[in-house]
Amino acid sequence: MTNKQIRVFSGVQPSGDPQLGNYLGAFRGWVKKQSEKDNFFCVVDLHALTVTPSPEDLKKQTRELAAVLFACGLDPDQSTLFVQSHVSAHAEGCWLLNCVTPIGWLERMTQFKDKSEGKERVSTGLLDYPVLMAGDILLYDADEVPVGEDQKQHVELSRDIAERFNRLYGETFKIPRPVIPEIGGRVMGLNDPNVKMSKSFADIRGHAIRILDTPEEIERSFMRAVTDSSNEIVFSNSPEKAGVNNLLGIYKVITEKSEEEVEKDFASARGYGDLKKAVAEVVIEELRPIKEKYLELMKDVSELDRLLSVGAQQASSIAFLKLDQMKEKMGLILPVSKELI
Ligand code: TYM
Repeated sequence: MTNKQIRVFSGVQPSGDPQLGNYLGAFRGWVKKQSEKDNFFCVVDLHALTVTPSPEDLKKQTRELAAVLFACGLDPDQSTLFVQSHVSAHAEGCWLLNCVTPIGWLERMTQFKDKSEGKERVSTGLLDYPVLMAGDILLYDADEVPVGEDQKQHVELSRDIAERFNRLYGETFKIPRPVIPEIGGRVMGLNDPNVKMSKSFADIRGHAIRILDTPEEIERSFMRAVTDSSNEIVFSNSPEKAGVNNLLGIYKVITEKSEEEVEKDFASARGYGDLKKAVAEVVIEELRPIKEKYLELMKDVSELDRLLSVGAQQASSIAFLKLDQMKEKMGLILPVSKELI
């Protein structure tokens, strides 16, 4: 099998400002590997509805996120990028998969537990979220799902759902595997290195680096990053060094150096101030061209919309075939002529 035959599917929610964790855990790897594989990437606006954003915010964030992804280097000639709601097979596929997914599987999801904790009421959508995600992946017979560590459980659930469907109705889906970067799969918050960096907290001062932050904002956030009271700049798994470890990890992914080389870079540093400055510098340089490209793309929103329509067409040509296959297997009769509906 040549690598182009390896189908990749992944997605991101337009639910806040995309941040450095999204970039290092997902987008950067998507772009780096795109020439080797058959790629589908999706701005999952239906997923974003589970946190009831304002309609204006959702529209704006969907376009902005698509532009960020193109700006990170997704190439429409190598990768299909589309908006989830443009391909209605995703919502339909979710319903079909709902009917084979035991509710207990969903109640066990840690992200559901975290997001619903302490809330008086949560939407059915929040519980059902991983089934929609399974549909995203399974409709494309994806081999690989490149995600950050936090999405691993959801991808594993997609495997369970696929296996259950195959058992009930006969071989239908490929069983996808999660692909998680060794470093960068879990970028932690700068204000609290025990909490994952997240779009949802991107507004909290000093928590996240947003991909579109100015160099000044990036530097300020890094200089405020929580570290510890020693001054040892080494990789470490000890909980007290989580902040330093996070900063070194960010530096390591971007510079693509080994741990030894990274530690050597800081052997003569005078303290954490030097470390923070150096990490800020490499992040600023990494994000600078992305922001420039983003601003250029946002000047012509109609071209952006056109690229997304082309992406939706390409995705539809695969997703609807699979959806029909699912329907047939489940005993739904297909209309004789789609033109009549
Ligand atoms: P989302 O929108 O939360 O995040 C998009 C991608 O970024 C990764 N990520 C991180 N990686 C490292 N460190 C972090 N701090 C960090 N924060 C986020 C996520 O792991 C993810 O890869 N449910 C998914 C979207 C989705 C999807 C799919 C993904 C919908 N359908 C199908 C794969 C396949 C989500 O909410 O990602």
